Amino acid sequence: MARKKLIAGNWKMNCLTAEGTDLAKTIAAEVKKMGKPECEFLVCPPFTLLGTVKKSLRGTKVALGAQDCHFAEKGAHTGDISPLMLTDLGCKYVILGHSERRADHLESNELINKKAVAAHKAGLKTVICIGETLAEREAGKAIDVCKEQILGSVPDDSTAADTVIAYEPVWAIGTGKVPTTNDVEEVHAAVRKVLAKKLGKSNANKMRILYGGSVKPSNAKELLSLSDVDGALIGGASLKADDFIAIAKNAGC
Ligand code: PGA
Repeated sequence: MARKKLIAGNWKMNCLTAEGTDLAKTIAAEVKKMGKPECEFLVCPPFTLLGTVKKSLRGTKVALGAQDCHFAEKGAHTGDISPLMLTDLGCKYVILGHSERRADHLESNELINKKAVAAHKAGLKTVICIGETLAEREAGKAIDVCKEQILGSVPDDSTAADTVIAYEPVWAIGTGKVPTTNDVEEVHAAVRKVLAKKLGKSNANKMRILYGGSVKPSNAKELLSLSDVDGALIGGASLKADDFIAIAKNAGC
């Protein structure tokens, strides 16, 4: 089953206008030089830069995404952003359930599920994040945790067309540590099995499962050539256009 790899940048709470514009323009120019890349590209700037970055990406092959959304269409939710507000700004994707939101904002699987339902309804594709902590990995519970997170946070009617899963071991995010390729393969295969049970074999076979956590140009080839790894969700290295593009090239895009 050929799945087009997705190379996604999660800028997190980084970049002011000048830096973000420059980053987006440089990435778009480099992707253009690649002609017809084998991969899809996505950048997810902070809310404040979505409008500006959208302009920098107009007419390019790089899609725009946000890092979170609320589950309501509109209303009394001070400080929140609705899925429709994101599509209104030109977003195609939204990341949901990132471990930093699960930790900083105590987001539960149930809440993430509600957000995903709302995002899909608004026409957004979701990148739903899962992954175990170090304590859970050491206790041999990595797969169980991922399974529970998928069952709880992925809506029952999700399809390969509207949902991407990102496996991001919490202990690998921003630490420079990455799991062994065997461990990545094992979790990705288990994730696809859970997806097959939940969403049917056809959806599971077509659904992209990204790896995230300290992806760099130097480890991209090894990680992204594994059979169930369909792209990467990149934090730190996505803030440097050269690294982001080198990851894509090393991944065979
Ligand atoms: P990192 O972050 O690449 O900086 O480890 C990945 C992520 O949190 O999405």
